[in-house]
Formats: sequence, C-alpha cells, structure tokens
Amino acid sequence: MKKKFFITTPIYYVNAKPHIGHAYTTIAADVLARFHKSRGDDVFLLVGTDEHGLNIQKKAEDAKKDPQVFVDEISQEFKNYWEKLDIKYDNFIRTTDEKHKAAVQKALQTLYDKKAIYKGEYEGFYCVACEQFKNEKDLVDGRCPDHDIVVEKTKEESYLLKMSADIQKKLIEKIKSDEFKIAPEKYKKEVLSFLESQELHDVSISRKNVSWGVALPFDPEHTTYVWADAFLNYLTGLGWEGDPNKLPSQWPADIQLIGKDILRVHATIWPIMLMHLGIELPKMLFVHGHILSHGRKMSKTLGNAISIDEMLEKFGVDGTRYLLMSAGTFGEDVDVTMERMIEKYNADLANGIGNLVSRVLKLAQNFQFSIFNFQSISNDKISNDIINFEFEKALEKIWKIVREDDKFVEENKPWELEKNDKAKFKEVMQKLISDLNLISELLAPFMPETSEKIKKALEEKKTGVLFPRIK
Ligand code: MSP
Repeated sequence: MKKKFFITTPIYYVNAKPHIGHAYTTIAADVLARFHKSRGDDVFLLVGTDEHGLNIQKKAEDAKKDPQVFVDEISQEFKNYWEKLDIKYDNFIRTTDEKHKAAVQKALQTLYDKKAIYKGEYEGFYCVACEQFKNEKDLVDGRCPDHDIVVEKTKEESYLLKMSADIQKKLIEKIKSDEFKIAPEKYKKEVLSFLESQELHDVSISRKNVSWGVALPFDPEHTTYVWADAFLNYLTGLGWEGDPNKLPSQWPADIQLIGKDILRVHATIWPIMLMHLGIELPKMLFVHGHILSHGRKMSKTLGNAISIDEMLEKFGVDGTRYLLMSAGTFGEDVDVTMERMIEKYNADLANGIGNLVSRVLKLAQNFQFSIFNFQSISNDKISNDIINFEFEKALEKIWKIVREDDKFVEENKPWELEKNDKAKFKEVMQKLISDLNLISELLAPFMPETSEKIKKALEEKKTGVLFPRIK
C-alpha cells in the first residue's frame, strides 16, 4: 500500500495578485510534494484562495467591481502564476465554491447544535488586512505591527466559539506530545508559552456588518468570520461535505505549511474548531519565516513586494524556484534583493551548473556512453534535508557536487587525456556523466525543467544554454 502524503499551503487572500512571498510557500510545498511522489507516496497537494471578508469586500468596492467578478479574476491570476511556476497541485480550492460554502454551513450548524457556538457580543481592535482582532498590547502606536495600518475598535453582536479551559488544556497536551506537531521547535515553544500564559477568549466567528461571506445557517443576518470559513478549506479541498463522521481518506493533513504570520490562528482557532467537531488534528504545522525586503516583511499592504513577473523574466521558472528555495534557512526570515539574486543566479546557475553541463557535454561528443548504464543513486543525506525542510542545505549539497566536478575537470584536463590516455579519459568521463545524471535526479523536485533538460542533453549528447548570463 502506498503511504499517503497530504500537504497544504495557506489559501491566499485575493485582494491583489500574488507576489514572491506567496510563491515561496507554494514552491516549497511543490518541492515536498514532488519529492514524496518520487518516493512512491500517494501525494495530495492542496492549494487555493481565500475569497471572503471585509478586506476583499472593500477592495472590490474600490475597484467598482462586483465582488464575485473581482475574486474570479484574482483567483485566476493565482492559478496562472502557479502554472507558470510549475506547481503541480492536486486541487485548487476556492472559498466561493458552492460546495465549500455548503460544507461550511453544515459544519457551523453542527457546532451550533452542539452548543459550541453561542450568540454574544465582541469587542476588540480589528486589523482589516490581517482580518483579525489584535490584543491591545500587540499594537504599535495604535497600529498593526504587520501591516502598519490603524486598527479599528469594533464592538458588535457576534456569534462566538467556546474556548473552554478543558479544551485549552487538551490542546496544550497535544502540542507538547507532538500529536499536533509544530515545527521548527522555536515556534512550538512560542505557541506553548502563549497558550500557557493566558486563558483563551471565546472567538468571534461571525460578522454582522460584512455582507461578503458565507451566511450563518442559523442566523442569516450574520456571515461567517473569514478565518472560520477559510480553515475548513483544508477539509473541503478534499471533497468533504461538512459531516464530521464522513472524512476524506487523505485526512489528517500530514503537513500544513504556513508563514509565521498566521501561526497563532492555525495553532488555536483551527485545532479548537476541529476538537469541537470531533475531528483528528493535522499531524504537523510547519512554519517558515518571512521574505523581507529592506528588513520589513514583503507584503501587498506595505507595497514593497518583488513581483513574480520580474523574477520570471530575469531568471526563468527554475531560476526563480532555485533562488527562492536557496535564499536562506526556511524557518527563518530571509532578506532578498534583486541585486543579490542576480549575483547568485550568475554564480550558481549560469556559471555553476550551466557551465558544467555544457563543458561535460562538449567533452563527451566523441565518447560512447549510455546513461542507462548508471545506477540511480539515492542520496540519503539530501533526502533527509528535504524531509527536514532544509531546502537550502539540500541545494548546497547538490552545488557541492557541481563545484567538485568543476575542480575535477580542471585537475584532470580531459581534453588532454582524450589525446594521450584513452583509458583515463574514459574513467574521468564516466564519473562526470554519472554525476550529471545524479545531479539531474537530485534537482528534480526543485528544478523539474532543468532536471529534464540535463537528462535529455545526456541522452542526445547535446546541450543548449541552460541559464544565460545576466548582465
Ligand atoms: N487567507 C489567509 C490564510 C488562510 S489559510 C486557512 C492569509 N492569506 S495571505 O494572502 O495573507 O497569505 C499569507 C501567507 O502567504 C503566509 O503565511 C505565507 O505563507 C505567504 N506569504 C505572504 N507574504 C510572505 C512573505 N513576505 N514571506 C513569506 N511568506 C509570505 O493569511
């Protein structure tokens, strides 16, 4: 039996088209999905868009568009970019899908019937870009620290989801025991210290003044709070219809990949909704750091984002995937600039691998070989790096082979051996070709197109320029 591997990305807001922050999470999820597929696992990669809520309602109004037309357009942009970036997802869920909305209503009705949801009042500081209530102590001069916008004090009638002390205790235990694993460790600690230092408030799960949302089945004057609606995508994306007793076979999620900005909600509201519904929690939340630009989180709201188009134009699909996955430690923040990326592209791709492949293939013109003679070698160290979300380490190890081979060519001078020492020439070429074959295999999850191109170049003994130099 194949081992199931269900992986999710956050579903992104459709208030603007995606930037490289969104691409970062999605490419990482695709790398993991491709890697697990290559090991024979039964993989399901779920991606999608989060399309309700006040922020999007306002953005559609600003654009003078009907909200459905507005979200249709931007959601399609996400799909287009994921196609351009070679993301092989198994489903793209949209929260405006009728089936998703019906399932959300069914699940909320269940929670209401169980008395986990009750009618009350909610007061707090609301950041419309986060679509979250903020604690007063987290604000900086009355502004949201992530989005630098003034938060509004809101008080309104609302339905609330109960956060009992008992549930909080159970959640803490599940996190501590890694039954609901939060990784890297520092994020687990952060969540535990938050959960252990205060009693959770009941969470508002509806909005009376937001029309763009899923109507509550038990009170159509309210719409569902966008996060409660959004979380359920992780189940509806598998075809779940809202019945806690009929779960899709891929559930629970093996890995939920998220940025650190949305950790707290994923580690509180989401598992608590599931616990109330009696549904098993995901196995793991893996939290990555932010892509920064000049020290601040790259974001649409701050307007400091590098566009995916800009990267694709300069670096191509695989160049973009490579530069994002090698930008730094995945769990930590990484600051990127176009200048540094151009430098790295030239060093590692144009001069590094591109140069090695063309050099070896030129030397191999008069050399008889078949790549089918080379065994495929799995590299456990690199596999472990990928399993541990250490993409930059895996890539560094692959590039170590590239650099060593370059040195090997310099030292052995195969162009001289070809004339003077046929036996040694053969030996040297066998090693180089076998390494290229290995490199192409190791690169496959990260740079699928390049991996294929190298394989093809070896088969046909010819190569074009893999990565043209950027001036
Ligand atoms: N819609 C919610 C998520 C709901 S999931 C049930 C949301 N959307 S978002 O459009 O704001 O996307 C946030 C996510 O996008 C982050 O958690 C991260 O995965 C990715 N990123 C957006 N900007 C990013 C960076 N600057 N750096 C890295 N990842 C970033 O929150």
